[in-house]
Parts: sequence; C-alpha cells; structure tokens
Amino acid sequence: MKNLLVTGGCGFIGSNFIRFLFEESDFKGRVINVDKLTYAGNPESLADVAERAGARYAFVHGDICDSVAMARVFDEYGVDAICHFAAESHVDRSIVKPDDFIETNIHGTYVLLQLARERMDRIKLFHHVSTDEVFGSLGETGFFTEETAYQPNSPYSASKAASDHLVRAYHHTYGLPVTISNCSNNYGPYQFPEKLIPLIILNAIEGKPLPVYGDGLNVRDWLFVRDHNTAVWEIMQRGRRGQTYNIGGRNEMKNIEVVGMICDLVEELAPPLPGGKKRRELITFVKDRPGHDRRYAIDCAKLEKELGWKPAESFATGLRKTVQWHLENATWISRVRSGEYQRWIEAHYGK
Ligand code: NAD
Ligand code: TYD
Repeated sequence: MKNLLVTGGCGFIGSNFIRFLFEESDFKGRVINVDKLTYAGNPESLADVAERAGARYAFVHGDICDSVAMARVFDEYGVDAICHFAAESHVDRSIVKPDDFIETNIHGTYVLLQLARERMDRIKLFHHVSTDEVFGSLGETGFFTEETAYQPNSPYSASKAASDHLVRAYHHTYGLPVTISNCSNNYGPYQFPEKLIPLIILNAIEGKPLPVYGDGLNVRDWLFVRDHNTAVWEIMQRGRRGQTYNIGGRNEMKNIEVVGMICDLVEELAPPLPGGKKRRELITFVKDRPGHDRRYAIDCAKLEKELGWKPAESFATGLRKTVQWHLENATWISRVRSGEYQRWIEAHYGK
C-alpha cells in the first residue's frame, strides 16, 4: 500500500485513523484524504499531522459520489488501496432527512467500488468501515457475530447495510480484494458534538440539561476510537480478503450509566457549577428516538483469535481521556459549533 486513499479523513474516526497511521503505525506510504467537508468534517483536526507528514499527506476536497473527480484522484495519485470511512453517520439526522445517507453511503460506496474494479490490476485492498447497527437490535442476551443476519432498523443503518452488501458483492462477483469491519459505538477526541458522549460532556461542563432518550436503559457497546483504528489497520494488513470482522470492546453500558459516569468525571476534572449544583441533577429524560434500537453487543472473538487484536483502553481510562481532551480543546469545540467554522470552510474550499 503505497498510495492509500482514505475517504472521510476529516471526520471523527477517519482523522484519528490518519493521525494513528502517521504517528504510531509502521505505514510508510502516502495518504490521500478525500473529504467533502460536510458539517462533520474538519480539516483542523489534522492540521498538525498534515504539517509533520509533508509530502506523504495530500488533502482533496471532494465528494465520493462524483465519479469524474474520484477517477482523477485514483489516477493522479496512483491509488493502490482504499480505506473507506466517508459517510453520513448520525442516526437522528437520518430519521429527519435520509437523502444524504442514501446518496453518500450507498451511491458513494458504489462509485468507489466501480473505480476500484476498473483498476483491479493495481488495487491491493478496498477496506470498508461499517457499523454493528446493520445487525439490528438485540434482546437482553446474545451478541452480534459475523454470521448474524442483517436487520437494520434506521435509515442510517439500512444505508450502511446496503453498502456492506455492495462491497461483499464486488468481491464475490469481480474478485475485488475487500475486507469489511463492523464496529460498535466509538468515542474519543474530535467527535462532532451531536453524538451522545461529546454532547453530554460539553453540556455537563457548561451546566446545561443532559438529554437522555426514553428510559435511558438502551445499551451500547463502547470502544475508544484509537482501539477501533488499531483493529482496522490490523485487518487491512493481515485480514483475510473477502472477510468481515466485528470490532468491539466487550463494554456494554446502559445510556444512563454512561451519562452518570460522565457527570462524575466532569465534577472531578472541571470547575464546579455555580450555586453548588451537581451535574447529575442536570439529567433530563426526553422523548424517545423513533425505532430506537434497544441493545447492541459485539462478539469480536474472530478478530481476537485470527489477528490477536486487543483494545488498549478500558471504558474508565478512555472516558477520562475523552473528558480531559474536551476540557483542553475549547477552541476546536467552539469552532465546530459555530457558523464561523462553516464560513472558514467555504472561504478555503468553496461551498
Ligand atoms: P463523521 O460523521 O464524524 O465523519 C464523516 C466524514 O465523512 C466527514 O469528514 C464528512 O465530511 C465526510 N463525508 C460525508 N459525506 C461525504 C461525501 N459524500 N464525500 C466525501 N466525504 C464525505 O463519521 P465517523 O463517526 O467518523 O464515522 C466514520 C465511519 O465509521 C462511517 O462510515 C460510520 O458509518 C462508521 N462507524 C462509525 C461509528 C461511530 O460510533 N461513530 C461506529 C462504527 C462505524
Ligand atoms: P448516538 O451517540 O447517537 O449513537 P447511536 O445512535 O449510533 O448508537 O446515541 C447513543 C445512544 O444514546 C443511543 O441509544 C441514543 C442515546 N442518546 C441519548 O439518550 N441522548 C442524546 O442526546 C443522544 C444524541 C443519544
């Protein structure tokens, strides 16, 4: 892999992946990061990495659905491997307005697969980054394995499921060398503050209400973002082509427990709220999400056994690092939350 195309590298997981590749892995090649810079993409997340990487890093402001522009990227940069993160990723947004999810997640993946297929002589790998949400919702017991039948419930998860099927089909039909990973919920630095963990951290720091959907007993299986990325890199290097790997941290938590832990960490690490108010008093139960999946839990035995992968963080250590990061990166946070950031993107990269 000399010229690795990373899509969505300005988003939460993609930017952490590129940071990991350059700063911690044995990767020796060049990264070409293609990102549309939607509300969720922020080139500032990588400014320091880009400077240090020099000619080994190229950024292209582009849309993966634009086959002409993407063909140019494949050929100008001699792309020989792809790690595909770009997607619309927030379930609540997909419920309100599914359009971009269908377009980017399904059509965009198809465009990339087709371009890779047309260049099969030099493409070594197409790695597709996906989610455990394609499997639907679990009851009180059991785990998602690689054999679990797909049963996506939201427009987001349905669009990701469709893209997984396309990737698999391009391997089965055309012999494209692919790997697929289905990971549980991530948290960590540079996550757009609309997802549960960064939203609750920031509201808790600022003394705002902490919205918990429904009864707060829905279960998610949390993994620190760097651990997701070490798994993706292992799979890309040593995973069997045509295979799917589940990634998870064996860390099931009820939402209300996660919110409680964040309250306690913020209480410990941030200045106290005025009037002696405690963060836990800010917890506010709100209307449930339509079609809200009850429980996700990943069985990642295949990844552990075949590739010897293990997460480095426990939820306690990862969450502490994440709260600390939010306290130390107020500028990044205020920029992504303000219109100023969107205007900056437009000034640098056009609308
Ligand atoms: P994110 O929303 O933070 O980032 C997505 C990135 O993709 C942004 O930089 C955005 O600008 C870019 N993008 C969107 N549409 C594009 C397009 N048409 N062309 C080019 N770039 C485009 O998402 P994330 O949380 O970093 O998720 C990355 C991937 O990992 C997604 O495929 C998601 O389904 C998957 N995933 C996420 C989680 C999670 O917990 N966040 C868990 C498992 C899998
Ligand atoms: P989210 O971070 O949106 O991830 P996903 O829906 O992909 O799992 O939500 C995680 C869980 O937290 C999910 O059960 C919905 C819940 N949630 C809240 O209770 N309050 C919130 O404000 C948000 C954004 C999510």
